[in-house]
Amino acid sequence: MSQKKLKTENNWHYLCHKSELKKENSYVNISFKGKEIFALYEDGSINVFENMCMHRGSKLVEGKNGVWNKKCPYHGVCYENGFPVNVEEKGLRRSKDRIRLNKYHASEVGDFIFFSENDDENNKIADFLGKETFEHLESISKIIDEPISDTQYYYDCRWEVAIENALEPLHLEDIHPETLDTLDLGKSENEEYDNSVIFNHAIKNQNMVSGLKKMQKLFSNKFNEKYHSTYVFPYFFISSTFGFSFSIQTFFPSNEKFKTHFRSRVYSSKAVNDSKKKILKNFFDSTIKINKQIFEEDADICSKIVKTDKHFIGPLADTEEKIIWFRKRLRLSN
Ligand code: FES
Ligand SMILES: [Fe+2]
Repeated sequence: MSQKKLKTENNWHYLCHKSELKKENSYVNISFKGKEIFALYEDGSINVFENMCMHRGSKLVEGKNGVWNKKCPYHGVCYENGFPVNVEEKGLRRSKDRIRLNKYHASEVGDFIFFSENDDENNKIADFLGKETFEHLESISKIIDEPISDTQYYYDCRWEVAIENALEPLHLEDIHPETLDTLDLGKSENEEYDNSVIFNHAIKNQNMVSGLKKMQKLFSNKFNEKYHSTYVFPYFFISSTFGFSFSIQTFFPSNEKFKTHFRSRVYSSKAVNDSKKKILKNFFDSTIKINKQIFEEDADICSKIVKTDKHFIGPLADTEEKIIWFRKRLRLSN
């Protein structure tokens, strides 16, 4: 890891997968640091805007996702590619340039869409992720078929607490005895990069492994036979068992220090064909259910962490080594 201070605004954040934006004018809206930011599919391209009309500040889109009519609900200014188009009619001709939507720097990683708060052209996601992580995420994005679940709620803790929880397997036995811990995970094998950690655990529950192996023929792509995770600093996780589905979690800070915007989306992987996809329906339903239970268990324990003014830096166990990486990376941020 390089030692120079790294600008927080240069970080890249996950917004969505292209399969969430199939229809013309469809959007995915996220809560990020007291703002809402949405990706909009229009005229064959994807733009990322702040969810705020620049006339008098109304929100433009509602909820987690949907299709936008391209019109502000307050006074009816219509936008195309972020530009107001009916300014004459609304008596706003002189303010035309001022009511252009706030647009974010967006980039594709395969079929994933990320955005950054720094719109400088030299701020590139390929540099931020590095070659290995970029290619790794790109290949996952191509294995994904479509979203099958999308949940969001507040974690009652600061975002660093939620990230540290997701980075260590030490809590699995006590917090997830009926869910994640039933896989009986082996030691974490980590690949650490400047802004990301890719890690895999062997699954030691042999009954489960043989069941999962049998299912492999239903899927178009082979991923790996592990419990896999990738963490991208600061707010993004992806995890998967055998690559059959991918769970993407974002932990964005909110306006309040001890509330974190949590969102978990599960995406199915491409099946060999439609009849196999039908067979997989029950499997995916139970994946969604277990996934929700795991995050409720995590949210619950994170809410019990005492809310200290500064991020609590306690001693770490051998299996919490990824938290060391995280704390080092945190110190490099300004
Ligand atoms: S606030 Fe959007 S048109 Fe007035
Ligand atoms: Fe957990």
